Amino acid sequence: MRKLKLKLGIHSYEIVVGWNLLQQLARLLDEAGLRHEIVIITNPVIERLYGDALNQNLIHEGFKLSTLLVPDGEAQKTLAAAEQLYQKLADLRVERSTPILAVGGGVIGDLAGFVAATYMRGLPLVQIPTTLLAQVDSSVGGKVAVDSATIKNKIGAFYQPKLVATDIATLQTLPAVEFSNGLAEVIKYAVIIDKFFFTYLEENMEKLRARDESCLEEVIFRSVKIKAGIVEKDEKDTGLRNILNFGHTIGHAVESASDFKIRHGEAVALGMLAAGKMSLKLGLFNEEELNRMKVLIQMAELPARMPDLSFAQVLQALTHDKKIHNGRIRFVLPKSIGEAFISDEVSLSLVEEVLSNWNE
Ligand SMILES: NC(=O)c1ccc[n+]([C@@H]2O[C@H](COP(=O)([O-])OP(=O)(O)OC[C@H]3O[C@@H](n4cnc5c(N)ncnc54)[C@H](O)[C@@H]3O)[C@@H](O)[C@H]2O)c1
Ligand SMILES: [Zn+2]
Repeated sequence: MRKLKLKLGIHSYEIVVGWNLLQQLARLLDEAGLRHEIVIITNPVIERLYGDALNQNLIHEGFKLSTLLVPDGEAQKTLAAAEQLYQKLADLRVERSTPILAVGGGVIGDLAGFVAATYMRGLPLVQIPTTLLAQVDSSVGGKVAVDSATIKNKIGAFYQPKLVATDIATLQTLPAVEFSNGLAEVIKYAVIIDKFFFTYLEENMEKLRARDESCLEEVIFRSVKIKAGIVEKDEKDTGLRNILNFGHTIGHAVESASDFKIRHGEAVALGMLAAGKMSLKLGLFNEEELNRMKVLIQMAELPARMPDLSFAQVLQALTHDKKIHNGRIRFVLPKSIGEAFISDEVSLSLVEEVLSNWNE
């Protein structure tokens, strides 16, 4: 078991990464000073796989728990789903000190986190991420959110958890496509900030995809450490934290142009390559490193070829989503593997050029 403290003054918290933590949760909750009457928010897929393990440990240790189920899927990350949860919390007569445990992927983490942030102006939140994406990214840093019909990723809060308990063993049941989805964010960290980590990934991607235990632990812990380090310096995303958007500008446009049929990580992989190509065309990045990125992305079973989307659709989604100043859009660009920067120099015509020649 490895522990890391994310230091944010009185909002500091521990991130615990290890094996079979679900079976040790009672002790971890005690160490975080949390109350014994708790509410678990999860979905039926995770409840079926891990409900027994959770219940056994917590009930055995004298916890009183209620479990609230939300149907599976991104479509559940809505204000309407939050409203139903508020009602259930009211029925349970939850108090301000009642901890909410978000057990699941990024969807559950964001939704349950949003509910915890807003119900009674804030209940203690514990993130228990069960997808690779949630373990390396969404459970750390306190961004919680829901979507409404036309507004994506804009209704939310910065609300730090009291504890993140990352049980790597839960990844054993994660489908391969979801695993690859999380690998996109891992590759992102390496490209923006840590060239040694990038080399480690090049050397170990096969083992990682076979879910080798020591490899998984190393990759998750290192990713969490990078993200925590960035969040500590810029909790509210006003500067440095922006570099975590590497790959996400085009990524979000691809996701939305595909009507969310393309997964987040897949879209981010394409977005990272797009940013790499732009940086290359601006003379700020080199071809050999761009190629290393492409190879690693393919080794992670992520796409390097643009799927069946016209570049016009992607461009339209991009300009709908992002502010454009004097024909230019803000991008995070790689300078070299291990170093990225925020640029306001990318013109719409450069974006068009990169997108329209994509698969050549
Ligand atoms: N808050 C943040 O900082 C942040 C960062 C990145 C992404 N996100 C959000 O995260 C969401 C995506 O998260 P995700 O990729 O984890 O998707 P997800 O939560 O939908 O999980 C993917 C699928 O895997 C299943 N699953 C989860 N754990 C499992 C396990 N251990 N075994 C088998 N199946 C399992 C889920 O039920 C679901 O069907 C998006 O809504 C995105 O906006 C938030
Ligand atoms: Zn992301």
